[in-house]
Amino acid sequence: MRFDVFTLLPETLSPYLNASILEKAAARGLIEVHLHNIRDYSTDRHHTTDDMPYGGGGGMVMKPEPVFAALETAIGSPPQCPVILLTPQGRVFNQAIAAELAACGRIALISGRYEGFDERIRQNLVTDEISIGDYVLTGGELPALILIDAIARLLPGVLGDPTGAEDDSHASGLLEYPHYTRPSEFRGWRVPEVLLSGDHGKIERWRREQSLLRTLHKRPDMLQKMKLQEWERKFLAKAEKTMRVQACSTGDENEI
Ligand code: ADE
Repeated sequence: MRFDVFTLLPETLSPYLNASILEKAAARGLIEVHLHNIRDYSTDRHHTTDDMPYGGGGGMVMKPEPVFAALETAIGSPPQCPVILLTPQGRVFNQAIAAELAACGRIALISGRYEGFDERIRQNLVTDEISIGDYVLTGGELPALILIDAIARLLPGVLGDPTGAEDDSHASGLLEYPHYTRPSEFRGWRVPEVLLSGDHGKIERWRREQSLLRTLHKRPDMLQKMKLQEWERKFLAKAEKTMRVQACSTGDENEI
C-alpha cells in the first residue's frame, strides 16, 4: 500500500515511520510512505505557503497553489486515489474507515498547518475529509501518522501474527478481552483459572463474555450497533441487572 503525505513538516513524521512495525513493513515492501514538502512547490521568492484571509479575521490560511502543485506533480491530475484532508471538520476516524482505506491500495493525505485551508482545496482537490477526534491539534501530521499506523497494521503480513488484528478492540464491534501472561501469580493476583485450563472452548467463551462485559461497562454505545446472539443478549441482560443492583446498593444510580 502506498501513502503520499503532503505536509509543511515532513521531518516530524520520519522518526515514527522509521521505527518498529512501520519500518519493518516498509523494508519488506508492504507499505511505501512518500513524504512531500508542500513548501517545495511554492514558486515565489520566499516560498510562501500561507496568506491572510480575505474578509479579515485572525489566523493565516493555507494557499491553494502549492497544495495543488504538490498533489498534481506527485500523484497526477486527476488523482487516481482518495485525496484525504486531515481536519477536525472531517468524518471521525474509526476502525471501519481504517479497513475501508486499507482496501484502496493507495491514498494521499494532506496535513495542514495554519488556521485553515483555502476552500478551493476542499472543493476541487480533496475527495474525503477525516478527523481523528473532536479536538483541535496544531497540524495534521499526527493525524496522518495515526491513519497510516491504523491502516498499515490491517495489511496482510504487517503484523507478525496473522490473526493479530482480528481480535482487536473495535474490529469485531466489541472491546477486546483482557490478556494475561506469565507469571500465573504476581503479588498475589492470579490469572483467571480458565486461561490455565487448556480447554479452548471454555477459553473462547470466557473471552467473548469478557469482551461483552468490558463493552457494556466502558462503551455501552457500541452495543447498540451489534448483532448479538441469543445467549449474548441474555448474558448482557443479566450483567446489566447485576450492575443496577450494585449501583442501588452503593447509592450511585448514575453509575449505570
Ligand atoms: N488537524 C487539527 N486537528 C485535527 C483533528 N482533530 N483531526 C484531523 N486533523 C486535524
